[in-house]
Amino acid sequence: MSQHNIADELVFFVNGRKVREQNADPETMLLPYLRRTLRQTGTKYGCGGGGCGACTVMISKYNVLEKKIFHFSVNACLTPLCTLYGAAVTTVEGIGSSRTSIHPVQERIAKAHGSQCGFCTPGMVMSMYTLLRNNPTPSTAQLQQNLAGNLCRCTGYRPIVDAFRTFCTATTCCQKGGPGVSCPLGKAEQDGSSTESMGRDQDMCSQLFKADDFLPVDDSQELIFPPELMLMDEKLEKRTLVFRGERVMWIAPAKLEELLELKSQYPKAPLLVGNTNIGPNMKFKGAFHPVMIHPANVSELSSVQFTDEGLRLGAACSLSHMKDVLVKATAEIAKEKTEIFQALVEQLCVLGGEQIRNMASLGGNIVSGSPTSDLNPILAATNCILELVSKERRRKIHLDENFFVGFGKTALMPEEVLLSIFIPYSRKWQFVSVFRQASRRENAFSIVNSGMQVVFKDETRVIAELRMFFGGMGPTTVCAKRCCKELINRSWDEDLLNQACELLLDEISPPSSAPGGSVEFRRTLTISFFYKFYLRVLQRLQQLLSKEDLFGADIPERHRSAMLPLLVGLPRGLQKFQQVPWDQLPEDQVGQPVMHLSAVKHATGEAIYCDDIPSQEGEIFLVLVTSSRAHAKIVSIDAVEALHLPGVLDIITAQDVPGENKMLDMNEILCESEVTCVGDIICGIVANSRVCAKTAAAAVKITYEDLEPLVLTLEDAIQHKSFYGERKLENGNVDAAFEKVDQQLEGQIHIGGQEHFYMETHSILVIPKGEDGEIEMVCPTQNPTLAQTVVAGSLGIPSNRVTVRVKRIGGAFGGKVMKISKMAAITAVAAHKTGRSVRLALERGEDMLITGGRHPFLGRYKVGYMTDGRIIAVEVTCYANGGNELDVTLEVLENALMNMDSGYHIPHLRLTGFACRTNLPSNTAFRAFGQPQAIAITESWITDVASKCGLSAEKVREINLYRGEECYTPCKTIFDSRNQLICWNECLKSASYHNRKIVIEEFNKLNRWKKRGISVMPLKKAVGFVIPFLNQAGALLLVYEDGSVLLTHGGTEMGQGLHTKMLQIASHELKIPMSAIHLNETSTGTVPNTSPTAASFSTDLNGMAVKAACQTLLQRLKPFMHDNPKGTWKDWVKEAFRNKVSLSTTGFFKGKDVSIDWEKGEATGIMYFIFGAACSEVEIDCLTGDHKNIRTDMVIDAGSSINPAVDIGQIEGAFTQGLGLFTMEELKYSPKGVLYTRGPTQYKIPAVCDIPEQLNVSLLSGSKNPNAIYHSKGISESAVLAGCSVLYAIKDAIAAARRESGLTGNFTLNSPCTPEQIRMACIDQFTEMVPVNVPESTPWAIIV
Ligand SMILES: Cc1cc2nc3c(=O)[nH]c(=O)nc-3n(C[C@H](O)[C@H](O)[C@H](O)COP(=O)(O)OP(=O)(O)OC[C@H]3O[C@@H](n4cnc5c(N)ncnc54)[C@H](O)[C@@H]3O)c2cc1C
Ligand code: FES
Ligand code: FES
Repeated sequence: MSQHNIADELVFFVNGRKVREQNADPETMLLPYLRRTLRQTGTKYGCGGGGCGACTVMISKYNVLEKKIFHFSVNACLTPLCTLYGAAVTTVEGIGSSRTSIHPVQERIAKAHGSQCGFCTPGMVMSMYTLLRNNPTPSTAQLQQNLAGNLCRCTGYRPIVDAFRTFCTATTCCQKGGPGVSCPLGKAEQDGSSTESMGRDQDMCSQLFKADDFLPVDDSQELIFPPELMLMDEKLEKRTLVFRGERVMWIAPAKLEELLELKSQYPKAPLLVGNTNIGPNMKFKGAFHPVMIHPANVSELSSVQFTDEGLRLGAACSLSHMKDVLVKATAEIAKEKTEIFQALVEQLCVLGGEQIRNMASLGGNIVSGSPTSDLNPILAATNCILELVSKERRRKIHLDENFFVGFGKTALMPEEVLLSIFIPYSRKWQFVSVFRQASRRENAFSIVNSGMQVVFKDETRVIAELRMFFGGMGPTTVCAKRCCKELINRSWDEDLLNQACELLLDEISPPSSAPGGSVEFRRTLTISFFYKFYLRVLQRLQQLLSKEDLFGADIPERHRSAMLPLLVGLPRGLQKFQQVPWDQLPEDQVGQPVMHLSAVKHATGEAIYCDDIPSQEGEIFLVLVTSSRAHAKIVSIDAVEALHLPGVLDIITAQDVPGENKMLDMNEILCESEVTCVGDIICGIVANSRVCAKTAAAAVKITYEDLEPLVLTLEDAIQHKSFYGERKLENGNVDAAFEKVDQQLEGQIHIGGQEHFYMETHSILVIPKGEDGEIEMVCPTQNPTLAQTVVAGSLGIPSNRVTVRVKRIGGAFGGKVMKISKMAAITAVAAHKTGRSVRLALERGEDMLITGGRHPFLGRYKVGYMTDGRIIAVEVTCYANGGNELDVTLEVLENALMNMDSGYHIPHLRLTGFACRTNLPSNTAFRAFGQPQAIAITESWITDVASKCGLSAEKVREINLYRGEECYTPCKTIFDSRNQLICWNECLKSASYHNRKIVIEEFNKLNRWKKRGISVMPLKKAVGFVIPFLNQAGALLLVYEDGSVLLTHGGTEMGQGLHTKMLQIASHELKIPMSAIHLNETSTGTVPNTSPTAASFSTDLNGMAVKAACQTLLQRLKPFMHDNPKGTWKDWVKEAFRNKVSLSTTGFFKGKDVSIDWEKGEATGIMYFIFGAACSEVEIDCLTGDHKNIRTDMVIDAGSSINPAVDIGQIEGAFTQGLGLFTMEELKYSPKGVLYTRGPTQYKIPAVCDIPEQLNVSLLSGSKNPNAIYHSKGISESAVLAGCSVLYAIKDAIAAARRESGLTGNFTLNSPCTPEQIRMACIDQFTEMVPVNVPESTPWAIIV
């Protein structure tokens, strides 16, 4: 079309500045444009697919017709640049800055300790900011909805929520113990629990931040919508806009006729509205569209019209707009008429996150034809009508089973446009319900969903019409047509229920190998949903019909629980910590809840992460090529096509490694002849841009020859005896003890792996210095020295030529200790080969594929016990899935065995562990290093014993707890267990465990389909490295003439507040304010031979080194202080300088020689233990497997905390990771070893909806640890273990559900305890109806 030959100029605003883009490329998204073209790097990349919220920005648009400005949050990663014509974009940099003034949202999240690594913080800030722009005093419900699309891996959300709650109007909390539901104090009154211990201790404090001095919100300070854009929009005679990129043409028509004309001309061109389906398909599935039509300006597509029969919504209405319209209508129109509207609102509230709902359109949702669309089943069940137009015709069709013709395909003709959707009013005798179960309550696609409608003959319970549609049960939305037909004219009673279930199962039965797997669960859900529908309808009929009419159809009171939703409120809680002594000077910051050093920079987007660093002169980009086979010989690497692509510079293979192609005793850095997992790195492509390098990497052709055996699962490894090594610990006389016990039992548990999901993916920048082979490397690693050593080794140069710099890391959790060094080496080899600076930044999917995570464990056990609950002998054999190279698998296994006793004294114990070699990407260090898996195994046999003895689990735990001053661990380390018992008792008390248990029992008696469970468990964790040489640290203190101090040490800052604590220590030692000390980065060029920042041990190590450096300096200043006692710090420093005294000091700390002799099973020199206890309460929906975390209380012995805000933040964050590990994070692999779960869409970490509504943390008062600096304890990892209390609370609830079916024996509950695990363990008449899968073919996924 000739009129489309000329490209328009794209005009929009970013943070008040006009952007004029002459060559807007339709393939460019806003996120890379902001970050690279405009150099606004505050907005972060976390996933690229709309799933994490790190890229949230606010878009403002002027609506000419309504003369109104609309603000909405979007995911910049899915927002095509070309959609921004006439829009104003506000990013985190646009709302405040530390250079001018910060915005109240930024201030509050920073001061309330809502940022740790800070990578999610700009996204959080922008979600909140947008909410405030639309509603200056939002409700807590609105706050909850607006944060659903933002993930944080560090904080556990509670501090973020607390910060933002200060903007909300009405708080549901009474603060003083009134009747508020969420307040721990108010709640305590309701459930009979004690509040005594909460405010008991005089020396305890619960104020982590002061809200009184927060800046008020001042609308007048906000950026105004550019008047120029208003004028532009007013004047814009509705004309078509055209943008042209290298490969794609973008046409945005303004009129419907033109749109139809375009559609007839380019029938294959998609109608891009929100891009939430097209975008991910292009990015992740390689879809390509040479022409894209953007119909946003076609007013007919956005119209909203109420008629006498219902509501007509333009297809391009966003889901948020649709929700607002429906919510308003349900409030204003008679209830009877809005059944369908209400059902739609129910789905819309949990569909995606706020950003997705703001972008995604109703028409897009329908036409995408996704089998898990939450809207299609209900729209279809309620006879909604689609209005379709093309140049030639206009037609109306029902949205029904005929509309969905295949996966992602509909009956829409290529040239047709969906103009509107008509949603009818409901009427009397018509009942509608929706259901969905997802792997996370919010911001997760449904596993199964359903829309159901029944219409009765007037004044009867005889079915006139029944329509049921299901999502997630096949390649399309599925209609239960036959079932519905057979039930017409039937009476709504129990016979119908049974028959309906049978018919549904018969009609909807995907094969056991169906994509998505979990077929039994999905089939169970279909009939469980129907049961819920049956009861809901019956309840309504009871309101309308007489008792006689309803004869034989009753709802027992206890069964009403099937209908109740599991509503989740915003988390809140109490955080208690010890106040500093009354005589501590106010300027001494040790023991104070000091804000994270970088918090304001996190909140303003000023904090610089590796990929935020501007491009170097001549910089090129590296993309890795990884293996698609799990075990194969590399026959050939063909890069001819790739190297011919424009912009491509070179290929980097094993042959290019000038030094050693190896790291420690692990596999090759670049595979040469064989691959041993999917994701093994074979080679890399360097090109001028990321896009070129990515395209070229995809074009490299590798030929493989598969090798045997293929060992993927732990069972495979056991069968093939594929082990790296074996470890054993034995105490007492196990065999003899088994002879003497009353009873024995055996069992097993499998604990799945876990992805680190740090928000900042692996990124590295290597800058060759051009002289003497020197290279500088920005590498966010937890282990700078390892990166330095491996890079030097691979280049064949000494370490003194390689400087590794780490400013900050956007989350790590153990995932940036090992493999990042391999990637650093490949990047360095690329820089060496090309002589140019090279950048590597993994996409989320690559990162998840390549880097491995927490080790899956299988534990098999035999237990000998007395009928009074004493456990006498235990034998455990466990297996850890190490993957394709050793990494730290043996150390993880060792740590698991050493800590498997948890808090229990078992006199006769035999623990054997096997480190398994499999064809998966090697698993690696992960927060708490094998111990969460170990205690999950331990708690499994504890609960088994309790159940066999007819005792409560907490009784058996209590009976077997370590007691006294002189206790011994399985590796014969002596320790004093008294604080553990104190924590246990405090936890029982502050959680009001015993009272609540009675309330729970009562609840369970009254409710058949909802069950509550509670679990309290001890926590014990050894702190320190058992590799002796790692227990050392160094620091460097430089004092300048003006008195300012520059501090460096060997630890890296990854959100855990290490640098903040180091500054507190230095400030305390030097007696100068923290503001006089600066800590710029960690660098191998300043402090050499660093130990990895890991194992909760970095404050202990580096803190001592910092202290030593400070003390040396003070010694040097002493004469000047003596001479001038009234002088200031600056005076003394100046005087020392004038007297030629060195003002740079180093500090060194040599820790204990901790080691373990595995021959003897004896450890020497273990530093100390963290003790604690955690109590969790949950509620499960027995019919769907959903669960809600009601409350968790933790009492943790953190010694004398250096910074309670940081420590409590670590505890809550670690607990949340544990919660994720044990209840929701599920890695799925294909039978060929391919990881399916490669992004937040498939892999669910906890979101704000998953945090216990009450989360109380108390640091044990009066605890002093003589083994670490200022009597503190390293706390970062221990609370992961507390997540296990949630797993066993769920098990407690499931046990109650099983008792309803007469099942009282032990049962296995594997981790993670997903909705599938819960549902299938709650055996009942519905699970019994579903035939057990007989695998006809290979299953879709395997358990590794
Ligand atoms: C992170 C994330 C989470 C999500 N969570 C959920 C969820 O929980 N539940 C759920 O149901 N969905 C979910 N979705 C899917 C989302 O709702 C759909 O992608 C969205 O509704 C599609 O609308 P869109 O405007 O973005 O479509 P686009 O991506 O712009 O277009 C999608 C398709 O629809 C076609 N199309 C669009 N409008 C028309 C029209 N008027 N006429 C003809 N064809 C048209 C396009 O040609 C294209 O083929 C999620 C998506 C993401 C990215
Ligand atoms: S980067 Fe955009 S949502 Fe994750
Ligand atoms: S602070 Fe939220 S991801 Fe790190």
